[in-house]
Amino acid sequence: MTSNSLQNLYKKKTHNSRRSYGKSVKIFPGGISHNIRFFRPYPFFVNKARNKHLFDVDDNKYVDYWMGHWALILGHSPTVVVKSLDKQIRRGTLYGTANDISIKLGEIIKKSIPISELLRFCTTGSEATMYAIRIARAVTKKRIICKTIGGWHGFNTDLMQSVNYPFEIDEGKGMTGAEGDFVESIPFNDLDRSIKLLNSVKEDLACIIIEPVLGGGGCIPADINYLKGLEEYSKRNNLLFILDEIVTGFRLNFGSVCSLYRLNPDIITLGKIVGGGLPIGVVCGKKEIMKVANPVENRSKEQLCYVGGGTFSSNPLTMTAGYATLNYISKNRQTVYNKINKLGDIARIGLRKLFSDYRLKTKVTGTGSLFLTHFLSNKVDDIMNANDVSLSDNETLAKYHFSLMTKYRIFFLPHKMGAISAVHDVKDIQNLINATEKIIESDTLRLRRKH
Ligand SMILES: Cc1ncc(COP(=O)(O)O)c(C=O)c1O
Repeated sequence: MTSNSLQNLYKKKTHNSRRSYGKSVKIFPGGISHNIRFFRPYPFFVNKARNKHLFDVDDNKYVDYWMGHWALILGHSPTVVVKSLDKQIRRGTLYGTANDISIKLGEIIKKSIPISELLRFCTTGSEATMYAIRIARAVTKKRIICKTIGGWHGFNTDLMQSVNYPFEIDEGKGMTGAEGDFVESIPFNDLDRSIKLLNSVKEDLACIIIEPVLGGGGCIPADINYLKGLEEYSKRNNLLFILDEIVTGFRLNFGSVCSLYRLNPDIITLGKIVGGGLPIGVVCGKKEIMKVANPVENRSKEQLCYVGGGTFSSNPLTMTAGYATLNYISKNRQTVYNKINKLGDIARIGLRKLFSDYRLKTKVTGTGSLFLTHFLSNKVDDIMNANDVSLSDNETLAKYHFSLMTKYRIFFLPHKMGAISAVHDVKDIQNLINATEKIIESDTLRLRRKH
């Protein structure tokens, strides 16, 4: 099937979405409210989601692996969350005051992540990382923050550096151009080169912020020794080590990767899963560090680091959904993580075997319930970092995801990693592998074979 006939098939199945997109584009720049949600010719418009399925306005039903930007570990609208929200919504949606339900969610996070001695809720992950680095600057009285090349920490201005290829060029317009003076970008998973770069700015270095799995940058787990090396460097040089666990928090295990990898960061940022499907960001940290954001003790501007939270922080709906989710997983943690991590293994192993049987140059990356297939190219033979991802055959990846969506109703947001939830099952993964085989057989992707 050619790209054109695939697009025609998509258009035939998505008349109503096409109409919706026509309206949407008159309201929103590009017709969307998050840049990555657009794909060609136009995205389908969803009006219902339940368990593992998305339903669009043309009544197409998709098995969803995007899962709300990887946030929905229990699937769409799980009963435990729906029931709790149903009660809460009658008791108020936004108090704008201190409330007890935030204590319940706070306690469960605190109990499962030892370094979260104090935490602050906010409304998005982008806010959480913005606050985290502000705290680091406040505590260390240094200015430079270090992030990895291809690392994604949300749309806050300070961290909009070296996100997209070519990494050395500013991330779009609207920046002063000076933000980069206070960011050092280091090569992911390359400790020696990273340390050399860190040494070059050591005098003014406030923190290192890193994702344990490069998520938006291509689903690449950090090497444990790389993380440990950066943590040791931070301790040795009195800077803060920040783990951005907005994707990995409660995704790979109950709590943080710290207990899996024996890490001891100063700050952890959370989001996604801990909101139970509603908007959230969380900054968690050691007491000694978080106390700088205590507005009761720090009376003057000279003492206080402002970590707002915002109008919707600790809103009772998010707190309720987050607590219902974590409480459920906590009670079923063995079942949930055994299941999703095993399904992740089956997907990765199955897809690797399939591509290898067909002698196709790919690399399936990921860990736990996260996975992504990369199509290798003349320019890149392996996937170790975001630069490799950028040089891989992304056009073929988009076509692969689009074929899955159009012909087999299996949804990955084109280019993005997939996340398995507790409501997926082995049959779904087998269907994904079978669909991938049919796509290969049909030569839709025109793939390069190994010699
Ligand atoms: C690792 C990481 N940090 C931060 C963010 C930003 O979170 P939000 O989209 O809630 O602002 C994301 C979003 O995908 C993320 O993957």
